Amino acid sequence: MYNPENHIYVIFGASGDLTKRKLVPALYALFVQKMLPEKFVLLGVSRSDFSDDEFRNRMKEAIIKYKEIDDESQIDKFVKKLFYTPISFDDEIHYKNLLNKIKSLREEFGTNGNTIFYLSTPPNVYGIIPQRLTSVGLNKQDDGWKRLIIEKPFGYDLESAIKLKDLLLKDWTEEQIYRIDHYLGKETVQNLLVTRFSNGIFEPLWNRNYIHHIEITSAESIGVEKRGGYYESSGALRDMVQNHLLQVVGLTAMEPPSSLEASAIRNEILKVFQSLRPFKKDEIKNNTIRGQYTSSKIKGEVVKGYRQEEGVNPESQTETYAALKFYIDNWRWGGVPFYIRTGKRLPTRVTEVVIHFKETPHFLFAKHQMNNSCNMLIIRIQPDEGILLKFGMKTPGAGFEVQNVNMDFHYSDLTNQRIPPAYERLLHDTMKGDSTLFARTDEVLEAWKFLTPVLECWKNDKNVPLLGYPAGTWGPEHADDLIEGDGRHWHYPCKNLADDGVYCEL
Ligand code: BG6
Repeated sequence: MYNPENHIYVIFGASGDLTKRKLVPALYALFVQKMLPEKFVLLGVSRSDFSDDEFRNRMKEAIIKYKEIDDESQIDKFVKKLFYTPISFDDEIHYKNLLNKIKSLREEFGTNGNTIFYLSTPPNVYGIIPQRLTSVGLNKQDDGWKRLIIEKPFGYDLESAIKLKDLLLKDWTEEQIYRIDHYLGKETVQNLLVTRFSNGIFEPLWNRNYIHHIEITSAESIGVEKRGGYYESSGALRDMVQNHLLQVVGLTAMEPPSSLEASAIRNEILKVFQSLRPFKKDEIKNNTIRGQYTSSKIKGEVVKGYRQEEGVNPESQTETYAALKFYIDNWRWGGVPFYIRTGKRLPTRVTEVVIHFKETPHFLFAKHQMNNSCNMLIIRIQPDEGILLKFGMKTPGAGFEVQNVNMDFHYSDLTNQRIPPAYERLLHDTMKGDSTLFARTDEVLEAWKFLTPVLECWKNDKNVPLLGYPAGTWGPEHADDLIEGDGRHWHYPCKNLADDGVYCEL
């Protein structure tokens, strides 16, 4: 295993939720697997006033609670590498202190000048922190590389994303900036590339000649939990579609890259985004659905509606469900509809890509054929990660009854293969300087360009209603109407990939 060069990892927002749930447990998992450099220091930075020891104890608890790896034996050794310094994000003096702290850690641990700054902070300080770091020279690479990791959302719409880009690129280069989209860190999302481009059997069919339509779903059973404040200014379109779902669209629809170089892969994703057919104002009503969950009973328990959640306006117009139908205007996909949907408080947590192939040109068995019996390839991103192919088979016995059967592969069948969590993979890539699985500025801007008209229309046009749906259901009542064609509807997934009958475990 190639180990990254020695460095200091600085996390802004170190007292926050993401640090304790994902970042530090992932760094610990890397430590246990000996994937950290020999000389490594983690410096937590945020507004709270902790001592090093208090920070270490909090992180120790987090590693145990949010366990990413089954080995607690090395926690004490790991937390010795953790340090903390409080900061007020926009106070210049504090950055001088930060610089001194970094310098003294460098000397003490011999990590040299390589430094990563991870912004796990509220988005309103994504501009100011890099500026302040620049003011004390912490963007300069003469004594070692400096990298800036930025969480989503990168901007709020096209205009604000352009502003943020201009601000950052004044002092930092594109190569120094890593925009995290944790979906790209998921093993099964990366497997989209491998499935498509390492098999001779799929690629010839992967186009408008054989594919009828493509569906991408990312359903969550949880509500907004304690994030009402953030979610109110975001909504499902900004929170999930602009980043995660469009990246999955990119990997599903892209042309084969010329190599596995970061720029080759990102160029192909960018081309897909550039080919997204822009929505005209009057098309948005018929091609998008927005919904918001209302209070209901799930498994006998009363569940709050979105408007009753903490931090949410009781008259909120924020969508917790979004579904879109759109086209990719290029040679491969001309005329093939893409449908994507995401929502909170749906019946189960599932992310999957469903490729619906066209019907056979002549239906020999038409009399017996059930509706919707065309071949489907389901790429399950989570949970029960795997791939399922559905095809027609003769029911044994007289005549020619056709039944749908499944051919399935589950990742869980691979013994002794640990699926590394997304953040573990991505943090390690930032240490190695590999930006393949990070969104580039131009991709992010194209994604905003595509969605900003929808955001504006949803905000201003009262003809596109915000529809309520009871928590625990598959979204607004008429969500199936978006899918064109007689009897067609969304694929309703179950917890287990291969269980897709009427009754299934959710
Ligand atoms: C985050 C969103 O980016 O992704 C959350 O902000 C969402 O609202 C989460 O719950 C979903 O991620 P995953 O990995 O659980 O599908």
